[in-house]
Amino acid sequence: MIKKWWMESVGYQIYPKSFYDGNNDGHGDLLGIYKKLPYLKSLGVDLIWICPFYVSPMDDNGYDVADFYDVAPSFGTLDDFKKLLNKAKELGIRIILDLVLNHTSDEHPWFMESRKSKDNPYRDYYIWQKGKSKGLPPTNWGSFFGGSAWVYDEATDEYYMKIFSNKMPDLNWKNEKVQDAMIDVAKYWLDLGVDGFRIDAVAHLARAPFVDAEPKDKPVVLDWFKFSNLPDVHIYLKKMYQKVFKPYDALTIGEVGGEANIESAYQYSAFDSGELNMVFNFDHNWCNNVFDIDNLENLKTDVKRLKEVFNKWQVAFKERGWLPLNWLNHDQPRLISHYGDQMYPLESGKMLATALYLMRGTPFVYQGEEIGMTNYPFQSIEDFNDVSSINRYYDLKRENKYTEEEILFKLRINSRDNPRSAIQWDDTKYAGFSKVKPVVNVNPNYIEINVKNNLENKGSLWYHYQHIFKLRKDPKYKELFVYGTYEQVPTSDELYVYIRENSAYKAYVINSFSRENVTYKLKINFDSVLLNNYENILINDDIITLSPYQAVVLVVKKEQL
Ligand code: GLC
Repeated sequence: MIKKWWMESVGYQIYPKSFYDGNNDGHGDLLGIYKKLPYLKSLGVDLIWICPFYVSPMDDNGYDVADFYDVAPSFGTLDDFKKLLNKAKELGIRIILDLVLNHTSDEHPWFMESRKSKDNPYRDYYIWQKGKSKGLPPTNWGSFFGGSAWVYDEATDEYYMKIFSNKMPDLNWKNEKVQDAMIDVAKYWLDLGVDGFRIDAVAHLARAPFVDAEPKDKPVVLDWFKFSNLPDVHIYLKKMYQKVFKPYDALTIGEVGGEANIESAYQYSAFDSGELNMVFNFDHNWCNNVFDIDNLENLKTDVKRLKEVFNKWQVAFKERGWLPLNWLNHDQPRLISHYGDQMYPLESGKMLATALYLMRGTPFVYQGEEIGMTNYPFQSIEDFNDVSSINRYYDLKRENKYTEEEILFKLRINSRDNPRSAIQWDDTKYAGFSKVKPVVNVNPNYIEINVKNNLENKGSLWYHYQHIFKLRKDPKYKELFVYGTYEQVPTSDELYVYIRENSAYKAYVINSFSRENVTYKLKINFDSVLLNNYENILINDDIITLSPYQAVVLVVKKEQL
């Protein structure tokens, strides 16, 4: 059996702008992370992924990098980062960074050179094409953040490609100089002492031939197959693996989004792939009707589908690889507002954590998830900062089909600004995030939902998360919950039950996704209850009655079977 330190880790994702303001200028920073390391340690975290803090004009909050080798002043200095890294090492916390390979900022010196002339030495660092004809881009491809995937540049009368915002030109990975330059970037941070990378948008490094997407008569079509999971991506990643990831034994987790099927996930991250260690897929992130509804009360989780996709990935990877376990990231709605139940936020929050983080894989908690933070109550377009939400607002306006309130509803329910509001540390002004008015939103519910309240109450969501992570680390159960097998048990739709098993134990992880009481027939004599999000369990004969959103973990010693 393959065993690695990162399989036993508990990960935590930090979006630094909104995590904690260490120097009280209103902006989250590296010093803030440094100050909160003991907090993370006490939760049980020993691996943190920090979203980009490199020099950037911040069109996409740092994913638009202008200098891969330095820290943006709003986040601090390189010395702050070194201090953070040292302190983390002292506490036994490893750090991985976001490695942005697909694009740079248009303010990166490479691009500023590239756009100057067709024979500039940096021209080929990016993807330039002639327009189809006067005023028409090379293809009708659309981009993720709205509009065309091409931007016209007057200086050379050509278009550059960008699958995200206009200020994020795509790098040309066919160019070996680009590959080598990004290998150097990775080496630089590994030499400084980071343990690896979450690799941004990794599925998109290659492009299909520049032929219009169907329907060809539509001016803009977002057909992400034109730039997702194409064969050349694997050539580039194999090179990165040989030149940098392998020699440094770096942990690598690629973001492959929603269209990576199992076969391509194997190609990226099976144990023998020679590319990455894991991939973040999004199959389980949108198993509800969030894109179809116009009233929050109709939001409904498709539990059946959720179970199917969890099972699909767990089974596919049981011998061939390893998976990260995450409910959300900085691009997705807050968990309680998405899959939780507003009437039972605490119970449903604890159940969701139990259901996910006892599977086989490495947990990645997204900042604030452990205290039950919720979506932000956006009132107007001025409340948004995310470039994709703002573009979407104007695209919907142009469609002329929706009222202002309808558009705001659509954004409110799934905008990427939801997970980016300030972490609610306590009930003082600005939620204890900063002493001055923060540059990020502060959810008014910080008075009740905050870290301080959670830590003061032993029954809080926070302690439930801590309990789960203690189970994963407990010498008695580590082999079971980290390396044990996973098997989903067929049940009615509102229940999600799975078994983790190793040579010594069998654990039943029983989760109810229902607002009603639900019964489940237990076919075992369990030894102990390892976890329960209610005070009691109601068992009569062999029928267990689960209260709304009850989650219990029962364990059986195998010699007794
Ligand atoms: C990834 C990031 C997202 C970013 C995009 C472009 O999807 O998670 O936040 O906007 O890549 O870098």
